Amino acid sequence: MRTKFVEIDQQKEYMAQAGRILQEGGLVAFPTETVYGLGGDAFNPGSCRKIYEAKGRPSDNPLIVHICRIEDLKMVAAEVPREAMLLAEKFWPGPLTMILPKADRVPYEVTGGLDTVAVRMPNHPIALALIDAAGGYVVAPSANSSGKPSPTLAGHVLEDLDGRIDMILDGGPVGIGLESTIVDLTTDVPEILRPGYITREMLEEVLGQVKTDVTIMSADTGQAPKAPGMKYRHYAPVGELTIVAGEPERVVHWINEKLSQSAGKKTGVICTDENRDKYLADVVKNIGKRDDEARIARELYRILREFDEEKVEIMYSEAFDTAGVGQAIMNRLLKAAGYHIIYV
Ligand code: TXA
Ligand code: MG
Repeated sequence: MRTKFVEIDQQKEYMAQAGRILQEGGLVAFPTETVYGLGGDAFNPGSCRKIYEAKGRPSDNPLIVHICRIEDLKMVAAEVPREAMLLAEKFWPGPLTMILPKADRVPYEVTGGLDTVAVRMPNHPIALALIDAAGGYVVAPSANSSGKPSPTLAGHVLEDLDGRIDMILDGGPVGIGLESTIVDLTTDVPEILRPGYITREMLEEVLGQVKTDVTIMSADTGQAPKAPGMKYRHYAPVGELTIVAGEPERVVHWINEKLSQSAGKKTGVICTDENRDKYLADVVKNIGKRDDEARIARELYRILREFDEEKVEIMYSEAFDTAGVGQAIMNRLLKAAGYHIIYV
């Protein structure tokens, strides 16, 4: 298959064609505000199977249905509780996915056999136009091959899926850079299954009490994550990544000690701007100022991909604050490191 790459200034010209591809069961990758998604028709089980195949993704890992109008929620959810409407009005279009009881018409291929469905309305003009052109319901996992970091540039999608999907719509770099927050509304107390840009505090302002799945920040809870996709070792770089937490001077000192013992291996460090000149690694990636969480979130996946391209074998990353969006950043970084974190 030849993958058509649609440049950023040709989006309008190609939108009708992209919508037709989806309606006919094909796959189109598109930008959202979080990461690039790989879209297929949500009501076509064949499209879902193609998505799993193109990504090399296990088919028990359910997909998110993307809509472009809040009122379309009732087509995919069997019930729309008041909490869901409140959240939709406050955060949609935006980086929030809700888990609700699924409507019968949603195929089990979408939900990985579950009776619940994940739904989100993304905040991106190209995504919204594409969903509309496709008839209103587009399933879309992140558009990476399974096991790679989610794509934050159209070029990442091309690297992973060229020749496996029909079209890629280039919308430039994404704004947020980490996948949406997932909140489960089918339990007594709403529960965050995946942290993201919309934080627990923001959800609690609307809902009152909100829980967080205990598996989010630790590997050794002895429990399976409640979002099936969170159990896979995502975002794993080829080299060995260790996170180092502690007082900044000590972190720099500890990492440099280790680097000096890594002769013959290509080494890399992810550091904040404040420490950019302090490391002795072969490759030093400055992820931005320590308190600029938005930038850290936006840069993380690109940097992890670059380490792979540059064939870095041993990597260290500074740890980041876990307040606000920091929790999502640390959750993804911990997964990339196989939960390997050292406190110095
Ligand atoms: O920001 C995003 O959410 C991006 C963009 C493209 O919208 N999409 C995305 O999709 O991250 P994906 O497939 O990479 O992640 C979907 C996550 C998986 O962890 C999956 O297990 C979980 O959502 N999920 C989907 N349906 C679920 C359900 N019914 N119950 C629990 N978790 C579910
Ligand atoms: Mg994904």
